[in-house]
Amino acid sequence: MAESIYGKHKEVLPAVLKHLVSQIENYNETKKKETGEPAYEHLIYRIKSEDSMREKCQRKGLPPVPKSALYDIHDAIGIRIVCCFLNDIYDNIKFIESIPGAKVIVGKDYIKSAKPNGYRSFHMILRMDVPFEDVLGQNPGQYFAEIQLRTIAMEFWANLEHQLRYKKDLSPELMEQTSYQLSEC
Ligand code: GTP
Ligand code: MG
Repeated sequence: MAESIYGKHKEVLPAVLKHLVSQIENYNETKKKETGEPAYEHLIYRIKSEDSMREKCQRKGLPPVPKSALYDIHDAIGIRIVCCFLNDIYDNIKFIESIPGAKVIVGKDYIKSAKPNGYRSFHMILRMDVPFEDVLGQNPGQYFAEIQLRTIAMEFWANLEHQLRYKKDLSPELMEQTSYQLSEC
């Protein structure tokens, strides 16, 4: 079997993801207790699959090695926070910015400025100091995560648009209906 594109750091990724997710979940629990309202509607997360990471390295002209996957590319760890209301998104962002040892190194507000195709979401890249060795050999090390924040309505739109783009087997009729539905959102 080919060696993992994440090399010996493969085992660390779930631990870093869990550490980050549990802080966001704790924030949600605290907010619920204090205000009666949750911080978000739901949360999903993943470690990028080996195949997707290899494909992304190729797309970006990077060699398929751990340094590309964990240092040059920043979304090996991905979290999406789906909120009911727009204000919740900005409250979650404030909380994330306050997480000890985490630094927001990129913030892209596709909510205030939607992409030309209409896609809306807030994206941030976090750099986290963690008690594990990183791909540069530093310990404590630094790991990156991409966090996407959007409302349920934006999530609905993005999922439809994603299907439209990647589902090669959509019939022309369904394609047309979906495009129409998207333009109406
Ligand atoms: P990547 O090279 O894919 O990381 O893109 P990027 O560096 O330009 O980052 P960007 O923040 O624009 O996009 C990151 C991720 O957001 C993508 O991998 C998708 O999951 C999602 N995304 C971005 N644009 C769109 C879009 O137009 N439609 C949908 N459905 N998802 C999008
Ligand atoms: Mg990305």
